[in-house]
Amino acid sequence: MVARGADEVPATVVETARSLTARRVRREPMAYILGEREFWGLPFKVSPAVLVPRPDSETLIEAVLSLMPDRARAWRIADLGLGSGCLLLTLLREYPQAHGVGLEASAEALAVAQENAEALGVAGRACLIAGDWRRPGWIESLGGPFDLVVSNPPYVASAALPKLMPEVASFEPQLALDGGAEGFDAYQVLIAAGPRLVTAGGIMAVEVGEGQAPEIARLFVAAGLSPQPPWKDLGGTDRVVAAGN
Ligand SMILES: C[S@@+](CC[C@H](N)C(=O)[O-])C[C@H]1O[C@@H](n2cnc3c(N)ncnc32)[C@H](O)[C@@H]1O
Repeated sequence: MVARGADEVPATVVETARSLTARRVRREPMAYILGEREFWGLPFKVSPAVLVPRPDSETLIEAVLSLMPDRARAWRIADLGLGSGCLLLTLLREYPQAHGVGLEASAEALAVAQENAEALGVAGRACLIAGDWRRPGWIESLGGPFDLVVSNPPYVASAALPKLMPEVASFEPQLALDGGAEGFDAYQVLIAAGPRLVTAGGIMAVEVGEGQAPEIARLFVAAGLSPQPPWKDLGGTDRVVAAGN
């Protein structure tokens, strides 16, 4: 506008700008409009089939890097509920010798994660598989055990879903958000599987919703794992709980 303010704007450009603006006015998230979102300084392709990667989830990457400072080890990592792949693929970039397995129930989300793995140059170290942790056999399908298991599972209580901001409630996938009656359905399954998934000395680290950390620590203890004090996100909210055996 400053440099070329006198130029006439072509009709097609006006039309494109209007239609993009109309989408945002309907509260569609910017990440879906642009088709991309940055996470940990990396570009991730997103589609309406995947949760938009959140800055809060970078807390999980920080926690893992502090718990596993050896970047040169060939760690085996699993990510339960891949979405865009932002957690697993970022960790594979941070640990260049590591190999990862990712589980995802949505075929569309899995395809996005696979595209991101290729674009980020880690596809050769990432095995991304379709699967559902509500079905028998999912643990065996991963081919563990793992030095590190991470997850940012759906954790919003079902009744709270309609009250979320329209960008989330109307546009982000229900499968990525709905954590059941109290928000803990996925954690109950995943944490109970923890001892079978992690190696001796291994770590399981999960993102948690606001106020959920004490219950998650309790679930870890019930599963026989020892939780550490929670990691806080930049807003000061307890955001990640990690536990070992
Ligand atoms: C909150 S999103 C997190 C996505 C990504 N890890 C992130 O941090 O942005 C949870 C993901 O778990 C997947 N998911 C939900 N229920 C699942 C299930 N029963 N089995 C496997 N994946 C599931 C969803 O499709 C979604 O991609």
